[in-house]
Amino acid sequence: MAPVKTILVTGSNGLLGQKIIYALRNQPDIKCVSTSRGENRMKIRDGYLYESLDITSPGEVRRIFDKYHPDAVIHTAALTNVDACETEKDESWRLNVQSVETIISECRRMESHLVQLSTDFVFNGNNGPYVETDSTEPLSYYGETKRAAEKLVESSGLSWSILRTIIIYGVVDDNTRSNVVLWTINSLTAGKKIRVITDQYRSPTLAEDLADACIAAARKRAQGIFHASGRELMCMIDIVRIVADYFNLDSSCILPVTSAELNQSARRPPVTGFILEKAERELGYSPHSFLEGLEIVRKQLLLVV
Ligand SMILES: NC(=O)c1ccc[n+]([C@@H]2O[C@H](COP(=O)([O-])OP(=O)(O)OC[C@H]3O[C@@H](n4cnc5c(N)ncnc54)[C@H](OP(=O)(O)O)[C@@H]3O)[C@@H](O)[C@H]2O)c1
Repeated sequence: MAPVKTILVTGSNGLLGQKIIYALRNQPDIKCVSTSRGENRMKIRDGYLYESLDITSPGEVRRIFDKYHPDAVIHTAALTNVDACETEKDESWRLNVQSVETIISECRRMESHLVQLSTDFVFNGNNGPYVETDSTEPLSYYGETKRAAEKLVESSGLSWSILRTIIIYGVVDDNTRSNVVLWTINSLTAGKKIRVITDQYRSPTLAEDLADACIAAARKRAQGIFHASGRELMCMIDIVRIVADYFNLDSSCILPVTSAELNQSARRPPVTGFILEKAERELGYSPHSFLEGLEIVRKQLLLVV
């Protein structure tokens, strides 16, 4: 099969999208077409092309596919706010499921390989860490939409990879989005008290590591579902305490709270975490440790200031 030469990325203003573009712009054998809703919000503008693209518009998606004929598509755009998905069901279905249908039909027309992003929230969290073949049972509407999208991809007849991941962290170029690490640093630096969950376990994922896995999946046209997260499975409150310690912040402002006490709109799985063997073997996935990831974040934050 001919090598992958053009990769189209959706949601490139998002955390993962930005990291994919920054990695691809240094790969001269790939033409990188970066797309997101509205203006490009990345600081560096060379080494890739940018097109404004609303993935809920089939006409716009078709125009971009016709213009670039991508060999592979990395579809990161989604409604990622889990509680917003619970309260805005129509919007989350439109973004997380219907837009995947649109992208599938364009990939079929162009014979493009599709890399779809998914989540640990497709599982019920009763018996993590999970392998790719474990049965799914989403507890939230966000999880339901992402599982529905997985099913569409699985039955699409395309060449496809699905990469499931778990709480992504990293530094973004603009301040429109937060994540567990930035939220902890910003809140504690401002002297705010933060309530953090004591009964949910996750494996935080450095955005750069996941970006590399997505690119490997696209380049290799890797087939099937892959679990790609950090290695360490930790309680949410320990994740936040480690961040506080690493950045010398006052951990007395971290207040323990149970899921029941926090009472968020969407139900969350208690224990997720992934077995990474398949991604390691087939994608060369080799994630940084959480402490190594925090050091990368620390250096990037110094550049931002
Ligand atoms: N973040 C996590 O912890 C996590 C965990 C598991 C799985 N995932 C999955 O990983 C993927 C990437 O997550 P992320 O953290 O990078 O998400 P993110 O930072 O929220 O980025 C999503 C991007 O999609 C864009 N977008 C939203 N609606 C769009 C539309 N109609 N047309 C075009 N672009 C649109 C957003 O644009 P605006 O910036 O303009 O809003 C945003 O830039 C998602 O598919 C998510 O479901 C994420």
